[in-house]
Amino acid sequence: MIDLRSDTATLPTPEMRRAIAEARVGDEQKREDPTVNELQERVAALLGHEASLFVPTATMANQIALKLHGRPGDVLLAEETSHVLVYEYGGPAAHAGLVTRGLPGVAGRVTADQVREAAAPSTKAADQRAAVLSLEDTHNNAGGRVWPLDELEDVVAAARELGLATHLDGSRVLNAAVAQGVEPAAIAAGFDTVTLCLSKGLGCPLGALLAGSRELLERAWREKHLFGGAMRQAGIVATAGVYALEHHVDRLADDHARARRLADGLAAAGLPVDLEQVETNFVQIDVGRLGLDRRDALALLAENGVGLSGTIHPTVVRAVTHLGVSDEDVERAIELVASTLARAAATSRPT
Ligand SMILES: Cc1ncc(COP(=O)(O)O)c(C=O)c1O
Repeated sequence: MIDLRSDTATLPTPEMRRAIAEARVGDEQKREDPTVNELQERVAALLGHEASLFVPTATMANQIALKLHGRPGDVLLAEETSHVLVYEYGGPAAHAGLVTRGLPGVAGRVTADQVREAAAPSTKAADQRAAVLSLEDTHNNAGGRVWPLDELEDVVAAARELGLATHLDGSRVLNAAVAQGVEPAAIAAGFDTVTLCLSKGLGCPLGALLAGSRELLERAWREKHLFGGAMRQAGIVATAGVYALEHHVDRLADDHARARRLADGLAAAGLPVDLEQVETNFVQIDVGRLGLDRRDALALLAENGVGLSGTIHPTVVRAVTHLGVSDEDVERAIELVASTLARAAATSRPT
């Protein structure tokens, strides 16, 4: 099957596996793992922060960050379809005791005015205050959309003026940086904390980093222990991260070009693809406009050899390009998706 369900479908390459086999390791909990330490330093520098912390998943990185920024009863502001709000099992409430407020976004983005309005002090003498703003770049549910830098800076500046802490779920921030042709720090340095995920486009088996100031990251170490995320010879997997930073960042441009080719090919075949949305490695198809049920469409596509997945939007499915997808796979996927959906649409039409 051509697996376009997610960029988490990547498998470690033979070269990455060799690096894993040869990793130098130590006790990570004691901060003695040389490879974890190296990865943390590299990611901090890459994102323009003083320090970073290796954790097993991007979810844990996000949740640790939110615990650093808010007290129980404080309000978390985020775009309403962002990963921290819709896919992390209520973690902000469960772990940090935060009240979540989702702001309606366009292409995954919110405006400085929305943040100002949402953070306006209550007229009551109550102390349920907006304490943290979390943004996502690239934005998963918007289809891998990228924040224009000036808009991002505006919103972060507004949050700062209001005294809010700022977190970037930059699980795919390197996709954003490559798409915009800027250094990752140009996107990430203005936030208090930033999550970077290794197991998506970077092709590692697992791992994520949380970056921020030295002071915040010292507190994050404690939270990581509390989450049960402090590990032992974690250099075995951190080495994949070091390898990926050296070999898998520039090539994200290939994933983006393949997504663009896939989108153009599908649109040329008459499928309802929103071409404007394709800025990185996601392509969305609105199968509802073909009169198809999303689940049926996904099942038929899988039977015919191509894996797509659902999105938060009830009629929209997505294809995601990644390290394991070649140019040939993209050409074949265009044929398979177009022919399968055309056949299904023809039979679903009332006669
Ligand atoms: C934007 C975003 N943030 C966070 C995550 C969570 O990553 P993980 O599954 O590694 O915890 C994902 C996963 O898809 C994501 O897309």
